[in-house]
Amino acid sequence: MITRYRDMAGDEVRINAFRKAIEAVVRPGDLVADIGCGLGTYAIFACRAGAAKVYAVEREDIILTARRIAEENGCADRIEFIRADAGSLTFDEPVDVLITEDFAVTFVDPSTERLLRHARTRLLKTSGRLVPQTVSLWAAPVSYPDLYRRIDQWSDDQQAYGIDFSAAREPTMNTVHKAGLRAEHLLGKPKELHRIDLQRGTEPAFDIAVRCRARATADVHGVAVWFEAQLAPGVRLSNAPGAPPTLWGQGFLPLARPIKARENSHIETRIAARIGPAADRTWWQWEVSSGRESTDGTTFRAFPTSLADLAAGSVDARPGLSSDGQITLYILQTLAQGGIIEEVANGLCREFPGEFTTVRDALGRVGAVARRYGHRPECDDDH
Ligand SMILES: C[S@@+](CC[C@H](N)C(=O)[O-])C[C@H]1O[C@@H](n2cnc3c(N)ncnc32)[C@H](O)[C@@H]1O
Repeated sequence: MITRYRDMAGDEVRINAFRKAIEAVVRPGDLVADIGCGLGTYAIFACRAGAAKVYAVEREDIILTARRIAEENGCADRIEFIRADAGSLTFDEPVDVLITEDFAVTFVDPSTERLLRHARTRLLKTSGRLVPQTVSLWAAPVSYPDLYRRIDQWSDDQQAYGIDFSAAREPTMNTVHKAGLRAEHLLGKPKELHRIDLQRGTEPAFDIAVRCRARATADVHGVAVWFEAQLAPGVRLSNAPGAPPTLWGQGFLPLARPIKARENSHIETRIAARIGPAADRTWWQWEVSSGRESTDGTTFRAFPTSLADLAAGSVDARPGLSSDGQITLYILQTLAQGGIIEEVANGLCREFPGEFTTVRDALGRVGAVARRYGHRPECDDDH
């Protein structure tokens, strides 16, 4: 786990942009929240910018390390570490500044959206400031044969280990891939797709057609999507091809087959990103045409269970609980009634004999649920 946070701490482009923004936005005496604090870096920046108090919220174990880092850096008396899912949290008092940065490569994501909505309505003062303030999404057609070859490795005539993997091609070609693109891979001028004002709560979903001219005669292999966030007035952070590289890279939407674009001809691109009301993922659709050629992709084709998932998440569905859900519910109910771990595990073996053959198996399951949803005395004591 620590390697992920070490890598993030090494992403100087992102950390320095947030540092600049925090210095610009946090005023002496402010109450600040760092949501998804990881190592607590931004909470420390906020203290140094004069915050009177910072709530540093994190749901993972890394919060224990973050607390030690704050102690070592003389900030522990002003940072209150709260181990919780920020989506179900409220503070004693709404904050002046709320910082958050857990973004997907293409930004549009149901859990980010839910978290931001909660932050805006329950955690932040009406006059409060969010970091970032706005996020714009951009796209451009891509010509990058090597990348396309790497992604399109399941075509009919290719076998690996003597196995025909061609059934995996459709999901692969209908998935948003992470790519490391440079400006030279873009075949046309980038176009802005959508602008989200996080403070006002603009709808993140969009459906838009844009057009650019091909700067050379070449094959179009897909579309690059990236974001540009305004963290504070004058402080921007982008994962655009050509911008200083970040850990995000860019989103790459591959085409089912490359299409030819002639120099100076129009390349039309339509991109839609949708989040269903009870969805746990973003549905992307893309279509590119140039001259008479046209091709498309959609993440609906990427998951064989998509339709079943959609039905289960539709507003009038009555999905009931799977056996996994019933087990989790049993654990939560018995823990909520004050049961101790061992009692709950014994109860699980009695209630679900087909699922747990030994108390040891049941203990593992109860422990995982307790760690996720239970109180954490070592981190909750000052909350
Ligand atoms: C991109 S990392 C942030 C790293 C951090 N800024 C740092 O400098 O170390 C995002 C963090 O947000 C946390 N996170 C995401 N959603 C959360 C939620 N709903 N509640 C609490 N923490 C959350 C993740 O566990 C992860 O540690």
